[in-house]
Amino acid sequence: MKIIHRLGVDLGERSYPIYIGTDLLGQAELIGQHILGSSALIVSNTTVAPLYLARIQTALESLGIRQDQVILEDGEQFKTLASVESIIDLMLRQRHDRRSTIIALGGGVIGDIAGFAASIYQRGVNFIQMPTTLLSQVDSSVGGKTGVNHPLGKNMIGAFYQPQCVIADIDSFGTLSARELSAGMAEVIKYGLIYDAEFFDWLEQNIDGLMTGDVDLLAQAVLVSCRIKARVVEQDERESGLRAILNLGHTFGHAIEAVMGYGNWLHGEAVAAGMIMAIDLSIRQGWIDESVRERSIELLRRAALPTAPPAEMTPEQFLETMAIDKKTVDGTIKLVLLRKLGEACVTGDYDHDKLLQTLAA
Ligand code: NAD
Ligand code: GLY
Repeated sequence: MKIIHRLGVDLGERSYPIYIGTDLLGQAELIGQHILGSSALIVSNTTVAPLYLARIQTALESLGIRQDQVILEDGEQFKTLASVESIIDLMLRQRHDRRSTIIALGGGVIGDIAGFAASIYQRGVNFIQMPTTLLSQVDSSVGGKTGVNHPLGKNMIGAFYQPQCVIADIDSFGTLSARELSAGMAEVIKYGLIYDAEFFDWLEQNIDGLMTGDVDLLAQAVLVSCRIKARVVEQDERESGLRAILNLGHTFGHAIEAVMGYGNWLHGEAVAAGMIMAIDLSIRQGWIDESVRERSIELLRRAALPTAPPAEMTPEQFLETMAIDKKTVDGTIKLVLLRKLGEACVTGDYDHDKLLQTLAA
């Protein structure tokens, strides 16, 4: 086991550590520090379980923890209340009590489902995040947003519920597809754009090493990303303002995902194109200059990500879908835009004609 970085998320009594390193998943000593009672339930899926479940089972066995597993089908379409119910059914049947621990082993889909189940089982049980995708290590496992989809909307049912710890094992990227690594890199690049221009410079210098799987570079990118997310969440845990900057490119991106059909464009791919659209509007507003666009397009391109939305999508399709975004209030579509490289704002105070120009472009 090698813990390369340890970072704290400071939320008073809901504070927790994030461990970033290699060979972390099966480490009984580490897991044992964050197990509460004498039983645990591991939630994973049919892709991740064959790769990583056994080592966690062995660790729990060595700690004398009674354990059960729920292995869900793989895919966003299984991020439903039915999956949550299957977790709760098993926990009740196996008599898991309020001191039981739910362990999420997988990407963001598994983390969101398992976290939501943990938030409602007997009004809340202990919860450990073991994220196995880049996207889930730098984004979804940190900050306490949990939930599932409703047939009428993505992530429409959920709760804020912080984990007991996050165990981010860089080794798990070894089995991740190149496309999923790229999708996660879009969120990493997002942190540079919204919060940290120096980190953006660092990404420009190191993107080739990151994309070829350099462990130390990846650990550093996960650390800085999690640190930025932690600092934002510490200031605004329940998204009454600042936290929405984490959604740069997401309002445009969600429209792309919805119109193109979920799964055809991965979330990170849609966010990449959406960030370039947000940058385009920020340039039209006169807030940033052309160089931010050029540098961003080049960085996303080197991370094998799209830099423009699908050509067949119309402005009307964008507007229709963007109108039901959670940030839309009283008909005003609030957007995350850039004031400068490394500084974002959430605003409805932009020129609507310029938004139409961005969509038409
Ligand atoms: P995902 O969970 O679907 O994982 C992507 C694919 O990779 C899946 O097929 C999965 O089985 C597979 N996989 C996972 N780890 C693997 C590994 N180590 N090796 C091989 N295959 C592996 O997708 P994701 O991108 O991790 O997460 C997307 C989800 O996260 C969405 O549902 C999104 O809404 C949610 N999300 C939540 C938050 C939040 O704050 N809670 C933030 C961003 C995204
Ligand atoms: N992924 C955005 C957030 O956690 O707020």
